Amino acid sequence: MNAALGSAVTIRAMMLPDIDRIILIEREIFLFPWSPGNFADSIKSGYYCRVLVQEKVLAGYGIMMLSPEEAHVLTLGVASDRQGRGLGKCMLQHLIDYARTQGAKSVFLDVRDSNHGAAQLYQRMGFQQIAIRKDYYPAMCGRENARVMQLPL
Ligand SMILES: CC(C)(COP(=O)(O)OP(=O)(O)OC[C@H]1O[C@@H](n2cnc3c(N)ncnc32)[C@H](O)[C@@H]1OP(=O)(O)O)[C@@H](O)C(=O)NCCC(=O)NCCS
Repeated sequence: MNAALGSAVTIRAMMLPDIDRIILIEREIFLFPWSPGNFADSIKSGYYCRVLVQEKVLAGYGIMMLSPEEAHVLTLGVASDRQGRGLGKCMLQHLIDYARTQGAKSVFLDVRDSNHGAAQLYQRMGFQQIAIRKDYYPAMCGRENARVMQLPL
């Protein structure tokens, strides 16, 4: 429980029945959302899949892939009506803390060039841009670059 956020927040393992709610959020916050199958596959693959629950409502989620030396955040989302209240930071800090306990030396993630809000969050958490993946993401008009960001642990 994180009392600093003003109301009880818990982070727990993502389960298959959570996917319906996650997809509602996903379609609201991403122009190119993951499919239900992408989430189910992540759970079945053993990725570190977590949901954030606030006042009994699933309000956010994060998925991270771990290898012996590195962790990769694959997705992070907070329901639009609950953004800007510290939940994204709380979820990301949880993922970082877990990666550290697993012995990862760095956490990596990709962010769209145009996603200034998320990039701001990552920078405030200590991530630094280390590379650009040209035309990595689909976009409304053609393709868009990804910024690759790293947090050394
Ligand atoms: C990005 C996202 C996960 C952040 O979650 P959030 O709960 O809204 O963010 P928080 O309230 O925890 O913000 C933490 C910090 O991030 C920064 N930040 C977050 N959103 C921001 C925005 N839209 N613009 C500028 N800064 C932002 C702020 O610096 C903030 O710190 P502060 O409150 O001390 O100023 C959430 O907005 C979201 O789901 N967005 C849509 C999906 C997405 O882009 N996911 C990331 C894909 S890479």
